[in-house]
Amino acid sequence: MTAARLVARCVRGLEPALCTEILRTGSATIDWIGHREVGFLAGDGDLRLRTADDVFLLAGRRDDIGPYKSDLAALAEMARAVDLEGLARERRARGGPAGFGGIEISASFLGRRTYNRYDIEDVVGRVLAERAGVPYHARRHGEAPPAGHSGWRLTLDGTHATLLLRLGRRPAHRRAYKTATIPGTLHPPVAAAMAQAAEMRPGQRVLDPCCGAGTLLIEAHHTVPGTTLLGFDIDPAARRAARQNAGPLPVAIEHGDAGALTVADRSIDRVLCNPPWGEQVDAGGRLAGHPAQWWHELARVLADEGRAIVLLPEARGLGHALALGLTPVHVQQLSLFGSRPLLARLERQRDRRRSRTPREATRSPTRGARSKGVSRES
Ligand SMILES: C[S@@+](CC[C@H](N)C(=O)[O-])C[C@H]1O[C@@H](n2cnc3c(N)ncnc32)[C@H](O)[C@@H]1O
Repeated sequence: MTAARLVARCVRGLEPALCTEILRTGSATIDWIGHREVGFLAGDGDLRLRTADDVFLLAGRRDDIGPYKSDLAALAEMARAVDLEGLARERRARGGPAGFGGIEISASFLGRRTYNRYDIEDVVGRVLAERAGVPYHARRHGEAPPAGHSGWRLTLDGTHATLLLRLGRRPAHRRAYKTATIPGTLHPPVAAAMAQAAEMRPGQRVLDPCCGAGTLLIEAHHTVPGTTLLGFDIDPAARRAARQNAGPLPVAIEHGDAGALTVADRSIDRVLCNPPWGEQVDAGGRLAGHPAQWWHELARVLADEGRAIVLLPEARGLGHALALGLTPVHVQQLSLFGSRPLLARLERQRDRRRSRTPREATRSPTRGARSKGVSRES
């Protein structure tokens, strides 16, 4: 297999996480970073990118076209120049479907234009279908494409027009494990980005105190196998969904209130959570009306040098974290289905006085002891 030009698409704000994951495959270099997309050159190797919404082969790229309907002819020309045979070969070699059973295409653009997305789709889709000798399925009427149609994507971002062919049979964000869901469940690529930001090590204890359908813990398992994974939720339907999704994976799901956790002080290495702050799910139990209690429990259970990766609807919660000795070391805004949540990484610094060995403690007296004139010999 030769090196191929690919494009991975993601949630707005996850581009840096996606770049990191691409580079960590060890067989790819980044070509460009755009709005919700990263272009890269990939050699052989595993290309399952968990932070990507989808992964495509690059079929064509040119300057963005103008804003008028007459400019659409340039996209038809782009579709005529696509190397269909080469793309089909490359997709098959990378484990994708063979041939083109039919063509369906999804277009999007930035900026004001006198055409709509369906006009773009029809112009490009019809040319591709005719050239491949297969049917074209128009999305204009809202019907799902028949099975076996190849997923194409066209983006106009104001600078470039980019035409893409999906590598796999299904979009990468759909997870086979996610057979049960709940309101407010997390988009798996966001959960994967959170799990990767946690930088877990095998043997560590990882907690989601409001685990819902279990997405974060399951992504944590796929990111670093061998951690101890523990999830609580007050809702029995959420716990059922989490257990069904986790299947045989080593994830313990228990009934529990995130405002009063049955977990020892400073016993958790990593916390992953998108708490129920009334976006789609209301906080229940001890958290109802008392979100500060969630922060108190987080600060209580997190070990020295522990880390929490949390998705928050707005920045106010970070004040609670700071007041409780948790430092927000990185905050990134995402754009997720119409909301703009913050993905925050919080760390507890090592409490030097608590964790010093007795020998260290006798060698360097505490500041308090020194101010009282107490020395090692005294
Ligand atoms: C936004 S959802 C979490 C979604 C989850 N990350 C997923 O991917 O499915 C918030 C969850 O918090 C739970 N919850 C609400 N109040 C709670 C409390 N006091 N203790 C524990 N869980 C609570 C809800 O039942 C819901 O499942």
